[in-house]
Amino acid sequence: MKILLLTHLFNSLAQRLHVELREWGHEVTVEFDIADAVTEEAVTLARPDLVLAPFMKRRIPESVWSRHLCLVVHPGPPGDGGPSALDHAILAGERDWGVTVLQATGELDAGPVWAWSPFTMREACKGDLYRREVVDAAVRAVRAALARWRPGCSAPMPSPELPARRGCWQPPVTAAERAVDWARDDTETVLRRIRSADGAPGVQAQLAGRACRLYDAHRVSATTLGAVLTAVSQAAPGALLARRGPALLVRTRDAALWIGHVRAGAAAPGRPELKLAATRAFAAEAAALPELAVPLEHPDDEWDELRYCELGPAGARVGWLEFDFHNGAMSTRQCERLRAALDEVRARPTRLLVLAGGAGFFGNGIHLHDIEAAADAEDDSAADASWRNINAIDDVALALIGLTDRLVVAALRGNAGAGGCFLALAADEVWAHAGVVLNPHYKNMGNLYGSEYWTYLLPRRVGGAPDDGACRRIMQGRLPIGVHEARALGLVDRCLADEAASFDAAAQAAALELAAAPGLAGRIAAKARRRAADEAVKPLAQYRAEELGRMQRNFYGFDPSYHVARHHFVARKPQAWTPRHLAVHRAPAAAQPDAPR
Ligand code: COA
Repeated sequence: MKILLLTHLFNSLAQRLHVELREWGHEVTVEFDIADAVTEEAVTLARPDLVLAPFMKRRIPESVWSRHLCLVVHPGPPGDGGPSALDHAILAGERDWGVTVLQATGELDAGPVWAWSPFTMREACKGDLYRREVVDAAVRAVRAALARWRPGCSAPMPSPELPARRGCWQPPVTAAERAVDWARDDTETVLRRIRSADGAPGVQAQLAGRACRLYDAHRVSATTLGAVLTAVSQAAPGALLARRGPALLVRTRDAALWIGHVRAGAAAPGRPELKLAATRAFAAEAAALPELAVPLEHPDDEWDELRYCELGPAGARVGWLEFDFHNGAMSTRQCERLRAALDEVRARPTRLLVLAGGAGFFGNGIHLHDIEAAADAEDDSAADASWRNINAIDDVALALIGLTDRLVVAALRGNAGAGGCFLALAADEVWAHAGVVLNPHYKNMGNLYGSEYWTYLLPRRVGGAPDDGACRRIMQGRLPIGVHEARALGLVDRCLADEAASFDAAAQAAALELAAAPGLAGRIAAKARRRAADEAVKPLAQYRAEELGRMQRNFYGFDPSYHVARHHFVARKPQAWTPRHLAVHRAPAAAQPDAPR
């Protein structure tokens, strides 16, 4: 089929469908939902069999849905409708939810249902549920809907599998409805409200006398609560008690909560309101608080960004290192922490180190919000902050490449993009599940050249030179890549599970098996030899200097594209046009993108 993906943003769902639809053999092109006239033009140019709308903020114009079959993906079960579907589900404590594919008609979310797929809700924030459960269910539902399509059909064939209406139309959740009142709301209520609005729009609350929006909330363990008990009993609800990593511990009516990230107002009129580590947004207040650091190896109920544990018997030990950085963004501080953690775990007698990244994202490269914040600081600049951040992430990559006394595996529990993706390639093997989407390129961020030793890491996996052949197709194609395609390209070595839910157990079992494999010592020795040989041909320092030379021009040169793109990205500015590498229908045949497949 010829499918036009009509979408407000090329978000995680649109990216995954782009990957899956191409894998199922369809021709796919993308148009951003910018204006009715633009959509009409796109349909005329693309002549699609089907318009598929994964993420919309406006209605599809009647001029389009009345003449073309348009299917909309709604993150709710049949009958449910409205723009805050998942928000309501989290606030109501729903245990079972679903995704429906329905036909666009004059009434929003009320057209004929083509397919749906249920899923079980998880204790997670809205963004994490969306990127995992909703995306997986949407793929299943779209697949079922396409199976019911016949050329020329304008309505779904009857299906006995569709349930009776489960949901109903629900209005948007208002800010006032879920604003947090520290004196009134108990911990579980606050947590549920924050999760229902995380990543967007965030829940309103007062912190240290300032109005802000809260994200990245975590329960406090009984041990930590015990440690601050005196302060807790004296402090009023809403008071700041302690800090850890990016987070502030906030007193609630009946306990306390870690708040990792906040939007605490724009630095000046016209500047974006950035999502920053709470300890950065409230730096002065945080400096006066006790730091409640925990060791890298800590119990499951103890929250921290980093967590390490070991598995398996002596002689075949596996180190498992998680770095659950909010949104996969890796600030200078976080990179420094990760590098310190690598220094610590390299002293452990393990034969295999698994880099398990975060549950939501493996990593998305340098922290663009943190960098943007430096533009507002008197004694800093976005260019300087970018420079510090890229050097810090390069140091992490260097530490990983230098771990030649054991094998390193990157276990992708979530998606990876830009620098986060190349960090994974610094491992000896990359494992993933079938739901993972990779964005192994930098160009979408204002034509960034990229670093993290990609000019060394990518060619050694896919062959050729960095600016040629497969490397060039991947870097210039700028498309999301699914795990099956990534395996074919050599970017991923093993796909261990169909979905994220079963991946951790599968990756741990595979790691234990690999650590006990008889040939492992030989593999590690061969790895060390290869590294030494590569170093003799061209030192890593030279790769780094060459990459950073290009990055320096991106950060400090006369072309402001990176700074403009970053500003647009953090401000979530609506797109004015669809990039040509996505809008295939707008590219002249001869100039169609050099895509990886
Ligand atoms: N720095 C700061 N925040 C980042 C980030 C980064 N590098 N990458 C993602 N995020 C944030 C987004 O701002 C968004 O936050 P929000 O919920 O407040 O809106 C959240 O993470 C999820 O990102 P989103 O873009 O909605 O996810 P996606 O699945 O649709 O797309 C990517 C994933 C990786 C394609 C996209 O996030 C991206 O392009 N990120 C930037 C990658 C990059 O250029 N890094 C710098 C060069 S190394």
